Amino acid sequence: MTFQPTFPETTSKVELYSQLALQVRSLLGSERDFIANAANFSSLLYHALPDLNWAGFYLLKTDELVLGPFQGQPACVRIEMGKGVCGTAARLGQTVVVDNVHEFPGHIACDTASSSEIAVPLSRNGRLIGVLDLDSPVLARFDDEDAQGLNDLAIIFTERTDLP
Ligand code: SME
Repeated sequence: MTFQPTFPETTSKVELYSQLALQVRSLLGSERDFIANAANFSSLLYHALPDLNWAGFYLLKTDELVLGPFQGQPACVRIEMGKGVCGTAARLGQTVVVDNVHEFPGHIACDTASSSEIAVPLSRNGRLIGVLDLDSPVLARFDDEDAQGLNDLAIIFTERTDLP
């Protein structure tokens, strides 16, 4: 199995996320194991989306977020609910887009290269599972189209995976 998630630079974000939706379905196939799917999903995002330095999961365990499968530099392991970008997205149950992480109160710096960030809450049947987190070295890397696209991909992922 070989995946080469590269797209022409002229591909629009809408088209890119549409292509990625097909690739996620193909990549996960009939596999439902959470760790395997989360690892492959984060790898696909990391390699397919331009200008990322981190892509991965924080998973809700008891009352805090714990690091899950990811691509990028080693990261902080535990994040309190309501803390940082991830904890804020988890607490609010809403996608949080941060144009400049250095201006976000309480931002948790894991990789000094990060300048902007998006955190997408993952849930199924109203139950919070964790957060999908992407970092970029580029300021204001993420916009509403990324938020919409990543939420759509997150739904495909959660529907096709046995969740913890
Ligand atoms: N910056 C995040 C922490 C996770 S790392 O970016 C991988 C935050 O503030 O929650």
